Amino acid sequence: MHLICGGGGGGGVYFHRSCALWLLVILLPQCWVAVSSQYEGEQGMFYSNNDQGGQEQGMFYGDDDQSWSGGAFRGGAFRDDRERYWRESNPDPYPDPNPSQLQQPDQVVSQQQIPNQPPQQIPQQVQNPNQFPQQVQNQNPNQPQVQNQNQNQQQVQNQNQNQQQVQNQNQNQQQVQNQNQNQQQAQNQNQVVRGFYDQSCPSAESVVRRTMVDSFRRNPLLAAGILRLFFHDCFVRGCDGSVLLDRKPGGPIPEKESDVNNNSITGFRVIDDAKKRLERMCPGVVSCSDILALAARDAVWISGGPRWSVPTGRLDGRVSLATEADNEIPPPDLRIRDLRKAFLAKGLNTHDVVTLSGAHTIGRAHCPAFEDRLYNFSATNAPDPTLNLSLLDSLQKICPRVGNTTFTVSLDRQTQVLFDNSYYVQLLASNGLLQTDQQLLFDASTAGLVRAYAADSSMFFRAFAKAMIKLSRVGLKAPGEGEIRKHCRRVNP
Ligand code: HEM
Repeated sequence: MHLICGGGGGGGVYFHRSCALWLLVILLPQCWVAVSSQYEGEQGMFYSNNDQGGQEQGMFYGDDDQSWSGGAFRGGAFRDDRERYWRESNPDPYPDPNPSQLQQPDQVVSQQQIPNQPPQQIPQQVQNPNQFPQQVQNQNPNQPQVQNQNQNQQQVQNQNQNQQQVQNQNQNQQQVQNQNQNQQQAQNQNQVVRGFYDQSCPSAESVVRRTMVDSFRRNPLLAAGILRLFFHDCFVRGCDGSVLLDRKPGGPIPEKESDVNNNSITGFRVIDDAKKRLERMCPGVVSCSDILALAARDAVWISGGPRWSVPTGRLDGRVSLATEADNEIPPPDLRIRDLRKAFLAKGLNTHDVVTLSGAHTIGRAHCPAFEDRLYNFSATNAPDPTLNLSLLDSLQKICPRVGNTTFTVSLDRQTQVLFDNSYYVQLLASNGLLQTDQQLLFDASTAGLVRAYAADSSMFFRAFAKAMIKLSRVGLKAPGEGEIRKHCRRVNP
């Protein structure tokens, strides 16, 4: 690990793993943390640029490892908020949360809101589909001509009426179809409920929480990995655990090997670990997609963010395609209009774009995710003019022009592993790392909310919890469309 602090040079200091346990979260304002690429399960040497143009090397640990090694900041104190939190307020590190402190599941997406009116008008019209032939049969050919003319006029009128009726019927059938679709969606959404496993696997949530706490102790960076994993799962075929599936021999390339995910997505082993524990306790009961949704919630909470009640009862999907991930997950240089469209396609609005982007208060990005902003923004052969100059300078040192694909930089310049509102504060200072982040301040539809969240962290926390519940309901599988996988990396035989 290498740290660049306030323009000073110097290398990182590496602690023995027993010390590292007491340094769960190390936070120092103004420190810019660049960590080498840490792919899960890997362990070995890392190479990282230092801010004087040289390179450093040391050990890194993937989430397979039993320890996480923190760095020390030369000349700075560190805060150990999470560890203090655990020791002082939680003698038992895995208590059940106090329900009154949890954000309740979002009632916005409930059957109440989705139109559920009985299709009253339709049956009446559907009852008389033969009206027109009946009227034609009733014509009497022996009546005087005038009468016939009147009758004919009447017929034309009736024909018009009937055409109108047919049109109405079609419209109403369409309405019925739409209502059915909405009801289906509502049913799928309502199939997830709070406390779904209370009877069938009462320890489900605490097992996931314990697994997350253990993983976080080994490597706090994994919390960010899990949160991103959940987002990428929900944006492709809904929150169905499809991102967790490995490639089958001879099968198509799965989501996890897509360009957008490959080599940058982490956290699979944490989910495997939780699943293994749960399968021992309640086999075949807890879905992988639920484990991921719960783990993402816990990732935020462990990192200092809000906690909410996750509705559970999801089913796992059986299909995972890299092409879909590359098409549906927004790239970091997407313009705000298209970004909003991408979210809208998943039932998420502009408010949700701003709120969920706040997830970038933790974690890091690899150089290629923002490289064009440093050297060739929008094919101008110049840096992004909205980028803070001192940030530009630091980033150009870490990410040289000739592609460095392995070095990473904190998404939130101030606090990499603390979930707080400083991501928005950084946007106000033009310190947003990704183009999709920074442009939230420059668009009229999003700037107001960025400022509001920067000023009020509890407003951000409340909104984030709500938006995550909304995200967790995207594209749920209906009964019969999914399964409860025995192993999160494979569909059931
Ligand atoms: C708004 C559209 C979004 C875009 C364009 C975007 C893009 C990115 C990119 C390019 C990275 C860096 C990946 C890398 O280089 O390793 C990243 C990291 C991350 N993203 Fe997003 N993201 C978006 C929304 C979200 C959402 C909605 C969430 C979660 C709710 C999320 C959570 C994260 C996290 C936690 C990381 C850090 C991952 C780590 O450190 O391992 N992102 N995102």
